[in-house]
Amino acid sequence: MKRKIAPSILAADFFCLKEAFRMMAEGGADYVHFDVMDGVFVPNISFGIPVLKGISQHTDIPFDVHLMIVNPEKYIKAFADAGADLIKVHQEAVADLPAVLHMIRDLDKKTGVVLNPDTPISTITHVLDQVDMVLLMSVYPGYGGQELIPAVLEKGAELKALREKLGLSFEIEIDGGITAENADRVASYGFDVLVAGSAVFEASDPVAAMKKIKGE
Ligand code: DX5
Ligand code: ZN
Repeated sequence: MKRKIAPSILAADFFCLKEAFRMMAEGGADYVHFDVMDGVFVPNISFGIPVLKGISQHTDIPFDVHLMIVNPEKYIKAFADAGADLIKVHQEAVADLPAVLHMIRDLDKKTGVVLNPDTPISTITHVLDQVDMVLLMSVYPGYGGQELIPAVLEKGAELKALREKLGLSFEIEIDGGITAENADRVASYGFDVLVAGSAVFEASDPVAAMKKIKGE
């Protein structure tokens, strides 16, 4: 199966978001990765519901919303109403994962769960049949432009093997430090969706960078 790209607009020029969306369409973006940070779960603040609402109505590219926030259950309906297509919560931020995933599914949105680099896959095996996507962080979340932690690659292979064993079909995504140079190697571990922020929006040719990350 062809791999997918989810450009992270955290790295985009916010004065020229319209141009960022034009480039993402041209580069074949499969999702727009939307990083929400609350300054509590992660040591940084980004953007949230009104920004998502303002831009989601102007594009057909599905929004892959990565909630790096505590108590995500309080905001899931608002993100769904604002135009999220896929809503992902961190395992580390949620006490009752099945309940939160159920809440997302009830709003007719796709579900996802995210693991920080040090959180083992065994913490989510009980919900793997309830998710459309699992995101493995390849950096400690909070900032764009960090270097990929290589130990996370094996985790991708482990999750892919588990998915096969369980006969499931969720997508496996990786986020943090993906570049046009390392994308082929990263994808070879079994990742279906590659998030890339700075490697796309800081490239001299973002469309070419997206195509290279997609393996085209
Ligand atoms: C990190 C975010 C990432 C980040 C990726 O907390 O979740 O999505 O924007 O940025 P790059 O691709 O620059 O590492
Ligand atoms: Zn992210």
